[in-house]
Formats: sequence, structure tokens, C-alpha cells
Amino acid sequence: MLEHIKEFSRHANSYDSHTVIQKEVATHLTCKIKNNPKKVLDLGCGSGAIHRNMKPNYELFIGVDNSANMCELHPKGENTIILNQSFESEEFFKYIKVYAPLDLIVSSSALQWSKNLNNVIKSCKTISDNILFSIFTKGTFKSIYEMTQRESFLPSVEEVVAIVSKYYDIDYEVKRYKLEFDDNISKFRYIKRSGVSGGKKELTLIQTKELIKNYPYSFLEFEVVFISSK
Ligand SMILES: C[S@@+](CC[C@H](N)C(=O)[O-])C[C@H]1O[C@@H](n2cnc3c(N)ncnc32)[C@H](O)[C@@H]1O
Repeated sequence: MLEHIKEFSRHANSYDSHTVIQKEVATHLTCKIKNNPKKVLDLGCGSGAIHRNMKPNYELFIGVDNSANMCELHPKGENTIILNQSFESEEFFKYIKVYAPLDLIVSSSALQWSKNLNNVIKSCKTISDNILFSIFTKGTFKSIYEMTQRESFLPSVEEVVAIVSKYYDIDYEVKRYKLEFDDNISKFRYIKRSGVSGGKKELTLIQTKELIKNYPYSFLEFEVVFISSK
């Protein structure tokens, strides 16, 4: 089990209350859906942010998530299939081909976890000409990374755009968010519970304590790239 998946599973029930930004991102992404797609695939569907925001004009909605707890929380229905699998696995893409071509592949706040984004996008191209993704990028928690002199594990906007452009003709938009908190402990709790940290113990206890004491801003920063095929 990957580290960040453990993190999502552990916090699956409290996930919705710690995901203000992901919710906003999912809403913004869903607003970009055009042409009433009939067959939709959601990569890293989580507890169903995209499903909830979508107009119910589709005939088939397939969500995939490798956290069993998240899959349990996702709304189910006659025309909704939820698969507890990894969107990086060969078996998944082999299976999903049965439904190809899909009208849209959507993914919100999930593809930044991909170990090989290139392979995922390449596989997407074999089943759909239309994509709509939001991906957290390197500017997320920028000040924390600068203060602790560490490299973010997240990809840069340029890296993501270069990879997706190999397979799709795209438009993209970068949005930056600031989330205000009353105190530093709440900020670090949010980072842990939201799952955006990747669940990696990247900071030592001493570093974390130092940050909680000295982090100078009242907000956390998030950077997200929204990508759509033309
Ligand atoms: C930040 S959540 C976003 C969930 C949902 N899309 C939303 O907008 O609220 C990321 C989700 O991606 C899932 N995920 C991460 N890597 C995955 C993978 N390789 N295969 C399937 N799901 C994955 C996690 O389990 C988690 O539910």
C-alpha cells in the first residue's frame, strides 16, 4: 500500500471536512465539463466530489479509486460503477477498454500521486479523446518547502503540461488558493488530514515543531493546474 493511500484510508470518514480546497477544485473542474458526456471515467474518484457536482445526464459513470474506504463512501447507483483498483495498473486499463471509447476522462486532485504520469496519460489516450484534469503542483505549500529547504514531491506545472501535451492538444489554467487558519497547529493538522502531503513523513519531529512555532503566515498555499483537451 502506498503511503498516501494509507493516509486517505485512515482519514476517509473525516476526509470531507478536511478538503475545502479539493472541493473547490472539483467544483471548478466540473464547471468545465462540456457537451453532456454520456460515458465518464473518474480517476481517483474518492468519496464522489465529481459525481456529486455533475449534471446527471450521463448514461454511465465509472469511478476508480485504490482506497477501499473511499470507494465505500462514493455514491452508487444503477448507472454508476465504482472500482477499487489503481488507475496505474495494467489490469485496470485492460478492463476499462470494454467501455471504450469514453466521452470523457475526468480526474480531480488525484493524478499528482501518479508514479508514472506519462504512462497513465498514454493509456488514457487509448480510451478517450477528451480529458479534464486538476492536478496539484509544486507551488502547493511553497513557503513550507522554502522554509525547510526541501524539494516538493509534487510535479511543476511545466512538467505536467509537457507530459499531457505529448498525447492531447490542451488548454490549461493555473489557480492558486490560500486557505486561512486561526493557528499553526490547525494548519499542520489540515495538511495531514487532507492527504495533500502525500502521507510521507518528510519532516522530522523537530522540523515540524519548529514550523508550528515559526511558520509566519496565516494561510496555506495551494497551486493547481486545470487541463482540458481542446
Ligand atoms: C485528494 S483525493 C481526491 C478525491 C476526489 N477526486 C475529489 O476531488 O474529492 C485523491 C484520491 O485519489 C486516490 N488515488 C491516489 N492514487 C491512486 C491510484 N493510483 N489509483 C486510484 N486511486 C488513487 C486516493 O485514494 C484519493 O481518494
